[in-house]
Amino acid sequence: MCGIVGYMGKKDAFPVLINGLKRLEYRGYDSSGIALYNGDLEIYKCKGKVQELENLTGGKIKSAKLGIGHTRWATHGEPNDVNAHPHISNNGDLVIVHNGIIENCDSLKQFLLDRNYTFKSDTDTEILINFIEYVQKEEKVTLDQAVRLALREVVGAYAIAVISKKEPDFMVSARLGSPLVLGLGSGEFFIGSDATPFIDLTKKVIYLEDGEMAIISTTGVSIRTIESDQPVDAVIHRLKMDLDSIEKGGYDHFMLKEIFEQPTSILNTIRGRLFENNAQIRMAGLDAISDKLEKANRILIIGCGTSWHAGLVGEYIIEDLSRIPVEVEYASEFRYRNPIIKSDDIVIAISQSGETADTLAAIKMAKAAGACVFGICNVVGSSIARESSAGAFTHAGPEIGVASTKAFTAQVTVLTMIALYLGRSNDNLSKSRFKEIAKEIKLIPKKIESMLELDDKVQSIAKLLNKSNNALFLGRGFNFPVALEGALKLKEISYIHAEGYPAAEMKHGPIALIDDNMPVIIVAPRGGMYEKIVSNIQEVKARKGAVISVTSYGESEVKALSDAVIEIPETLDCLTPLLTTIPLQLLSYHVAVQRECNVDQPRNLAKSVTVE
Ligand code: G6P
Repeated sequence: MCGIVGYMGKKDAFPVLINGLKRLEYRGYDSSGIALYNGDLEIYKCKGKVQELENLTGGKIKSAKLGIGHTRWATHGEPNDVNAHPHISNNGDLVIVHNGIIENCDSLKQFLLDRNYTFKSDTDTEILINFIEYVQKEEKVTLDQAVRLALREVVGAYAIAVISKKEPDFMVSARLGSPLVLGLGSGEFFIGSDATPFIDLTKKVIYLEDGEMAIISTTGVSIRTIESDQPVDAVIHRLKMDLDSIEKGGYDHFMLKEIFEQPTSILNTIRGRLFENNAQIRMAGLDAISDKLEKANRILIIGCGTSWHAGLVGEYIIEDLSRIPVEVEYASEFRYRNPIIKSDDIVIAISQSGETADTLAAIKMAKAAGACVFGICNVVGSSIARESSAGAFTHAGPEIGVASTKAFTAQVTVLTMIALYLGRSNDNLSKSRFKEIAKEIKLIPKKIESMLELDDKVQSIAKLLNKSNNALFLGRGFNFPVALEGALKLKEISYIHAEGYPAAEMKHGPIALIDDNMPVIIVAPRGGMYEKIVSNIQEVKARKGAVISVTSYGESEVKALSDAVIEIPETLDCLTPLLTTIPLQLLSYHVAVQRECNVDQPRNLAKSVTVE
């Protein structure tokens, strides 16, 4: 949530910052702003997308070598021009951009009001910058010290960048609970909520840790702890990401590009890890905790949103192949409900961004209780990847569309490999069954490719849905989580109310809603549950519901009962989620486009949810 950027160097800061903000827009897009120092502070900010900010600034910008910028996902105060960042302090000297929430902002505000400070916005950020100004005035210290001392009084989460008119040789940045990456160029420095803003300008980065601040000057960066002002020996990482991977590459939307990338992203997920011939999974993260995995009595899977759905698929597969009991929980519930966590539990935390606040907090809690945490993340260098005891990257490549697609299939693929690993380790999975599954996994990318050819067909099926106000998604067994994910995708980007249900549960409630206005999307591939789900389709048809089904090639029974059918290639029951998910992603995409919704930046959502 919220993206921040900063630049200090020899280039003109404005284009660097505005391009950076466009790349961070997936994090929040209700308003944006920029502050530049060119002898004086110039601030431009407005409600709406970064494009509107660019229009606002059109032609007026003087050259500046220092600046900060922000794209917002509103927490305190509605999205409008005044609440947009950057915020300036009362004396006009200091400006700040902030991602996070200052929880004790009310008491800080009262403290400042009592000292005649005034506020223009409803934001916690304006309170923070004035508190920094107050500390600087009272303590008569430099900008970095004022930021440090002020932050010591702050309760909450933040990633900030601050510049000062009086000390334009510095840019100060700090983090606690919200991500922040520094880019090191030659004689120039960048700040970003992630590395995408400056990926084409430098590959050398430092990931700031919680409780650290960076004091950036034209000559270098010094990293220190906020609490005790001690120097930190920061590690410089080299990024492997390139610019192409974060651009649309000819597709109309990032989401469509990412759906179409799945044959490749799944290949990348399994590359060098899945060995069919000797029935082996090689994942360094699993090997690192093999002793703990051997003793594991239970696996807890935590995540949010789509990652939680991947966890549910994981539960079915891990229990099936390894017979180890699995529980799946929303990280937000887990962290607050006093769960039972034992030292021989393995906690698998799933997160595309690796920054989701609830998942991160749940991991810390599980670790404190002695559990071993295995992180499944897509973003290398993210907080969750670093906080986990061990882990595996999904290698799906950057996912920019807010609605998660290729990250989901990559997560399910990693979980399937974990299930294979565990099944072999505890002898619940025979070598021959391992080989059968591994062989099929390798065929999945090609099978997805063939399904993507159905895009035009799915586009026309979407017309059956695009005027609806509601939709029901039903699935059973391995495909129950797929139904949940299909419903989530549709509601996220097309704003149609959609619910996912285990098909048999329909008669305990949702069936009351079925009439000729309620489209029902049924995920019914050939496999263990096929016969049962055919009966569920009949129940829907008997009530005149329109049925769109996703089934295996040649399933005439389902075809005969359906108003529209999308067929998937044959695969093993446990791998069907990797195929059935694809048409549901395409369906949501086309419905959203037909309803003229903003597919990549759906209203009120953000890709990286760094507040709880
Ligand atoms: C947000 C995103 C979802 C995502 C969820 C969890 O809600 O819009 O697409 O599934 O966060 O994010 P994570 O990065 O932890 O997977």
